Amino acid sequence: LNYRATSFLISAARFDQCPPATGREVAFAGRSNAGKSSALNALTGSNKLARTSKTPGRTQLINFFTINNGEHKLVDLPGYGFAKVPEAMKLEWQKELGTYLEERPNLVGVVLLVDIRHPLKEFDEMMIDWAITSGMPLHILLTKSDKLKFGAAKAALQKLRNQLRDHKDLITVQLFSSLNKVGIDELSAQLDHWYLA
Ligand code: GTP
Ligand code: MG
Repeated sequence: LNYRATSFLISAARFDQCPPATGREVAFAGRSNAGKSSALNALTGSNKLARTSKTPGRTQLINFFTINNGEHKLVDLPGYGFAKVPEAMKLEWQKELGTYLEERPNLVGVVLLVDIRHPLKEFDEMMIDWAITSGMPLHILLTKSDKLKFGAAKAALQKLRNQLRDHKDLITVQLFSSLNKVGIDELSAQLDHWYLA
């Protein structure tokens, strides 16, 4: 698919505000500030499609994008683990996020973004466990790989792949840098597989 022809569709604050579940959907999930919105922008070749920010918690809604004016969608999920919002709001987001992941009928895969410098925090472990128990395919981006030297980035990739070696059919891992545009072709290939297979 031509991910450079992606356009914003709608934002939902709650699960019941999601657009009709037509076409296939892939969601970008991960901790706050992991680089979800930046990765969507890098993939689509736009620097303003998804709003990015130095302040964690920028994306507070479930944002839907359509690819090539078709039915298939990309979804930018709110970050998880953002400390600075009131507890009640945090619980509300987690509930909507959980409902989306559990109940969205056309969700075919989740891209989980993990900052390469802070591998597998509690939320990431939860997402991986959920993928394994639910059978939802997961593609992990080790983001901001530009922050490490190439050797160290490769080592982090190998370590995580090794950790997940029993789930190769369900969980894949790659390096990614929105800044240096590393990993975009590999990500596009995975998305094509999910949308078109
Ligand atoms: P929330 O919406 O708060 O959940 O965050 P997010 O996961 O969407 O992160 P976002 O894309 O807004 O990026 C957070 C910060 O990380 C911004 O300051 C980005 O410029 C920076 N960033 C994102 N990707 C990269 C990358 O590949 N390399 C570097 N060096 N910085 C990055
Ligand atoms: Mg964001």
